[in-house]
Amino acid sequence: MSDKNVRKESPDDKPQIDGNMEGNSQTKSSKKRNKKKQHQPENEAELLSNFTKPLNTISIQGLRAAMEALTMNQKPAKTPEEALTKSYQFWNTQPVPKMDEKITVNEAIEPDRQVAEIRAEPYSLPDGFAWDTLNLDEPLVLKELYTLLNENYVEDDDCMFRFDYQPEFLKWALQPPGWRKDWHCGVRVVKSGRLVGFISAIPATLKIYEKTQKMVEINFLCVHKRLRSKRVAPVLIREITRRVHLTGLFQAVYTAGIVLPKPVGTCRYWHRSLNPKKLIEVKFSHLSRNMTMQRTLKLYKLPDSPRTPGFRKLTEADYLRKFDLSPLFTEEDFVHWFLPRPDIVDSFVVEKGGKVTDFVSYYTLPSTVMHHPVHTSLKAAYSFYNVSGETPWVDLMNDALISAKQSNFDVFNALDLMDNREFLETLKFGIGDGNLQYYLYNWKCPSMAPHRMGLVLQ
Ligand SMILES: CC(C)(COP(=O)(O)OP(=O)(O)OC[C@H]1O[C@@H](n2cnc3c(N)ncnc32)[C@H](O)[C@@H]1OP(=O)(O)O)[C@@H](O)C(=O)NCCC(=O)NCCS
Repeated sequence: MSDKNVRKESPDDKPQIDGNMEGNSQTKSSKKRNKKKQHQPENEAELLSNFTKPLNTISIQGLRAAMEALTMNQKPAKTPEEALTKSYQFWNTQPVPKMDEKITVNEAIEPDRQVAEIRAEPYSLPDGFAWDTLNLDEPLVLKELYTLLNENYVEDDDCMFRFDYQPEFLKWALQPPGWRKDWHCGVRVVKSGRLVGFISAIPATLKIYEKTQKMVEINFLCVHKRLRSKRVAPVLIREITRRVHLTGLFQAVYTAGIVLPKPVGTCRYWHRSLNPKKLIEVKFSHLSRNMTMQRTLKLYKLPDSPRTPGFRKLTEADYLRKFDLSPLFTEEDFVHWFLPRPDIVDSFVVEKGGKVTDFVSYYTLPSTVMHHPVHTSLKAAYSFYNVSGETPWVDLMNDALISAKQSNFDVFNALDLMDNREFLETLKFGIGDGNLQYYLYNWKCPSMAPHRMGLVLQ
């Protein structure tokens, strides 16, 4: 199955900066470049392009670095085999396990530090760029973050779909109990004020095998397309790490489509068509061999309402210790993450005789359909946390599919983690074409199989 897995690392972006920007400023800036030594950039385009302009004088070190960069395998690794051939200039300096490391312990890599030992000043950005902590309670600022991500965040490998996280969803994901404003870390172009980079952290307590560890979840790392491949991402990662260290936390969890040193586990998305006609039209999926549209519609048809007696929306605080990696929610966390919010998160329970026996939840994450004459958006539901107490997995999740269909979702996505294998194939989910790697920062432990992992990030 070649369904597009939008939860994938974006493809290599050739630096568009030169081609795109030159239209605005090439003649002018190239003339000036010859005339003046201390040229002040006049517009953002020029500023962005100047960011990577080769220096007139090149040092031996610079030359060596350039040679290294050329000989290095520059494409992000998609498999552990590719990763073993890479040098990881940045990640090799960080407290993460090496790709070939065999791990038998479950512990921090580096000890905690005193806050006084932590660097007090923000890391340096290139000239013309500045840090800006985003106030997401300010609708215009939230809109700026929305636009940065809508135009520059994760795409599938073929550049057909890009995540379209909605503003209110971003607030929900970035302001859970214990959130901190200084963990919403933006980068702006000084002159225009334009937001061109972002990274975030939220607090979380995770169970890792038998240990409980307070840490942060890192998410929404994004660098504007025109600023790619210029080592801005490592500066963002260092800066959020510094800000998290200042609060006395020294571990983090994060996911990525690419292979970095070193995944704690590898999961795969599966996709269940709810609106097969549209999914085929936008090339998210294709008509299988020997299948007509008519037969495909019939294959994926669902009943008009859920089948399980007592299946209803979660109302009030109506819990995940069996996995090797899972969050520990307080009641306040539970209310935040699971009480239904229209177009953000939906949760259902099965209630029998006043007792809640089962629980399913999914979040709403549309993707922009790029370059399609008719369809501009794909409405996807992402399986979040589910508990089958009495209702069999297949029945419970079938009702989740039916409820999603009733809410006009085009597709229902689920990772192959937790107990999801119990229903994926039976309920006609098709396997996606990319992996989602899970990482721990400053922690080493043996790797886990997907069905041992109990953590879903947005
Ligand atoms: C991810 C992104 C910020 C990386 O920026 P970039 O300009 O491509 O890369 P830079 O030149 O700044 O930095 C490269 C370094 O960052 C690392 N890196 C790239 N993507 C990364 C990721 N998703 N998580 C952690 N590190 C990452 C690279 O491995 C490399 O480090 P190395 O030398 O140790 O290998 C950028 O490609 C982007 O915004 N992509 C779209 C959104 C996205 O995929 N976000 C991540 C979601 S998991």
